[in-house]
Amino acid sequence: MAFITGGGQGIGLGIARALGRRGVRLALADVDEAALTRAGEELSRLTAVETVPLDVRDRQGFASAADLVEARLGPVDLLFNNAGIVPVSPVTELTYEKWDLALGVNLTGVVNGLQTFLPRMIERGAGGYVVNTASGAGLVADANVLYVTGKFAVVGLSESLRLALGRYGIDVSVLCPGPVDTDIIRNTRTVNEDLFAGVPGSALRDAEAFLRGGVGIDAVGEMVIAGMRARSLWIHTSDEVRPSVEARMTDLLASTPVPVVDATS
Ligand SMILES: NC(=O)c1ccc[n+]([C@@H]2O[C@H](COP(=O)([O-])OP(=O)(O)OC[C@H]3O[C@@H](n4cnc5c(N)ncnc54)[C@H](O)[C@@H]3O)[C@@H](O)[C@H]2O)c1
Repeated sequence: MAFITGGGQGIGLGIARALGRRGVRLALADVDEAALTRAGEELSRLTAVETVPLDVRDRQGFASAADLVEARLGPVDLLFNNAGIVPVSPVTELTYEKWDLALGVNLTGVVNGLQTFLPRMIERGAGGYVVNTASGAGLVADANVLYVTGKFAVVGLSESLRLALGRYGIDVSVLCPGPVDTDIIRNTRTVNEDLFAGVPGSALRDAEAFLRGGVGIDAVGEMVIAGMRARSLWIHTSDEVRPSVEARMTDLLASTPVPVVDATS
């Protein structure tokens, strides 16, 4: 049985459809209850589905959701920590509140999913699979520090987790999408318009157009299944990040070791 955060729409819905087509039972969790209802109605034509309103920052809510869906659909052995927002903030507009919101959803939300379900998976001893959604922005930095910080952390977390969980038969992949055609910018503005303070409307329109030109959610769902079958640590949705990753690795390797200069001599 699969538990998918942010499963009401976008990439989470694409993953849910791909699993549902294969008869996997689904639990979808999201803060957007209208999207959850739509997704639940659609997917119930494919498989057994439960929908749970949940803010991934809510630890007690996570535990209750886990109890509920496991009682109704059976043990969760496929966990997709996918819910996320894309705050776009100039560095001069950063506040503690924005940091807390961005990292609370994009990083602690993933930690909360793991902390809810991993003890149950390990206790059962039947293995499982965890897919965390990061981003190409978790592999190569741009100037959006609020987003990049959380996504780099999710990549590092996933790489470490894969090493830690191998002995329990639990696989880990990290999905690092390039542009995907979703409403994430509009959805993030709904969460908190202030996250975009100081960002010109034209920049947001350009970003929305960039995503519109991206991969569709159903293609991403199939890529996730293929990546899981191949047990890939990283799952990409396009090749766009390759030149930047290559440049980063070249710079990284060229920068070590630093020759020690004795300033006193
Ligand atoms: N769309 C892209 O181009 C792209 C690229 C790279 C990474 N990603 C990542 O993919 C993931 C999914 O994004 P998407 O593009 O499908 O966006 P989306 O807005 O279509 O879907 C995200 C879902 O997460 C939900 N959500 C937001 N905050 C939540 C919270 N606190 N608790 C529970 N649910 C919450 C939203 O309601 C929404 O249904 C995110 O982690 C995002 O950072 C997206």
